[in-house]
This record gives sequence, structure tokens and C-alpha cells, in this order.
Amino acid sequence: MALHIEPADATLGATITGIDLARLDDADWRQIEDAFHQFGVLVFPSQHLTETAQVTFGRRFGAVEQLVAKRDIVPISNRDAEGEQLYDRSHQALVLRGNEGWHTDSSYMPVSAKASVLSCRIAPKRGGETEWADMRAAFDALDDAMRERVAPLAAFHSLYHSQAKLGHKVEAGAGYGFIADAPPLRPLVKTHPFTGRPALYMGRHAYGIVGLAAEESERLLTGLVEFACQPPRVWGHRWAPGDVVIWDNRCVMHRARPYDQREPRVMMHTRIAGDPATEAALATTEQAPPIGIGTAA
Ligand SMILES: [Fe+2]
Repeated sequence: MALHIEPADATLGATITGIDLARLDDADWRQIEDAFHQFGVLVFPSQHLTETAQVTFGRRFGAVEQLVAKRDIVPISNRDAEGEQLYDRSHQALVLRGNEGWHTDSSYMPVSAKASVLSCRIAPKRGGETEWADMRAAFDALDDAMRERVAPLAAFHSLYHSQAKLGHKVEAGAGYGFIADAPPLRPLVKTHPFTGRPALYMGRHAYGIVGLAAEESERLLTGLVEFACQPPRVWGHRWAPGDVVIWDNRCVMHRARPYDQREPRVMMHTRIAGDPATEAALATTEQAPPIGIGTAA
């Protein structure tokens, strides 16, 4: 079996076949790591990894960011632990709804994520795809004036804020990622620590650009996401059970597409921690503005 890399018809993304991720030798790994840096998103169809094999694959990219209950791999599912459907207004269902907005994982944490591994256990018949947007190509496509405008700017990132925009009022201590005090401040333009390429860095958790009025900040962030997440910078994957994907959160945004919530959608997720040297929040004495600007509720 020879490893085959098929670039997507977009500025990011590739599908890799002819490989068994559970039995990866060092030569294959080098090709995969090079492709990860080049394409930002890699789809590996029909791998059917065990939980242990998924975590082992993830660890090739770096230390695992331990999520809910300090686990290395967690379900992202619209079913609870007993397999029952979650109600539309439950906390978990609203967090899943939030994932349908463009974002980058753990931007709301003190150290944002390097990469995310997602695999499919059960896919809905229609919808439920994941889409990715190339924030390197988005930065490159800005005109000179906008590039100069955004380069010095920084925004706060908060999961409370992004969920509040959906009308989801979250109690303190609600779970992983909900940090009430001192949300991290991050530059709008992130230099990739390996490739050196600049990329826009924002998404639904970003708000409160320092030095701008709240409405102006919201308008700029919304406009940039709308501009960025357009062809040819967007690629999507329709899931089948067994598929595995990894993407680079340092230069790619992603979102889930809607689907019929009466159908199960069960995914397994492993998140790769960022390097504190390059993914830590900016040091600041600025106070984050109150959350909820531009919220629906
Ligand atoms: Fe995500």
C-alpha cells in the first residue's frame, strides 16, 4: 500500500489514502507531518481507529490537551452516556449548536490548541459535515489597507461570549473552556510557528478588540470571518463511520454543519495542546469588556 495524497479543490485540505494510521512507520509519519503543514487539514477515510490508536496518532503531533474529566479522547455527540437524545435546550445541545459557528479550538483557553483530531462513529444521513477555512489564504487575500489595519490588533476570546450570542446563559463552573475571569487576549494575525506564514485568527469566541468600540469591534470581526470563509478558502467533508481528520488550529477555522437532531451523530475528539511559547495568550493589563455585545438574547 503506497501512501497517496490527493489535494482538495481549495486552498487547504487533502485526502490521504493507502495508509493505516494504527501502524504508522516513521517514513509515512514524515510525509503526513509535511502534508499537515502544507494543507492544514488531512482527511483519512475509513481508518476505524480504536480510542487508544486515535490518542497514539494524536500524540505524534504533540502532547494531548486533556478535556472533560481530564480525558485524552472525548465524545462529541448528540446522545448522552446512556445513548438517549439530548434535548435541544440542554447545555450540551447548545454547546453542539455553538460548534456550527466558525471557530478555532481552545482559543478561549490560556494556551490555545495546536491541532484537533476528529473521527466518526455514527454519521447522520444528511448534513453534519465539518467545514474548514484557510486563514492563511484569507490573510493573503486582504487588501494592503486591511492587512495594515488588522496587523496590530488583538481580541479577547471567551466561550461564555460565544455561547451568550446563541442565547445560552452559562453558569459559572459549567465545564471545560468556560473561564469566567480574565479571558485570553490574542492577536488578530497569528504567525504560524512552523511555516512562518501569517494567518487571520478569530472566530466566534473573539470579541472586544482592544482600542475599538464594542460595535466597531463586532462589525470588523464579523466582516473578516465572512470574507475569510468563502471559496476557494473553504473545504468540507461529509463523514462516514471510520473517517479520521486532523486540522491545524493555528491557521484553520472550522465549523459543523446542521443536521436533523433526531438522528445520532457521534464523533470522537482528541485535542493537541499548543506550545506555550507560541500559543499562550498575550500579556495585557487591559480589562476584557463585558460579554454579550451583539447577543441574540
Ligand atoms: Fe471545534
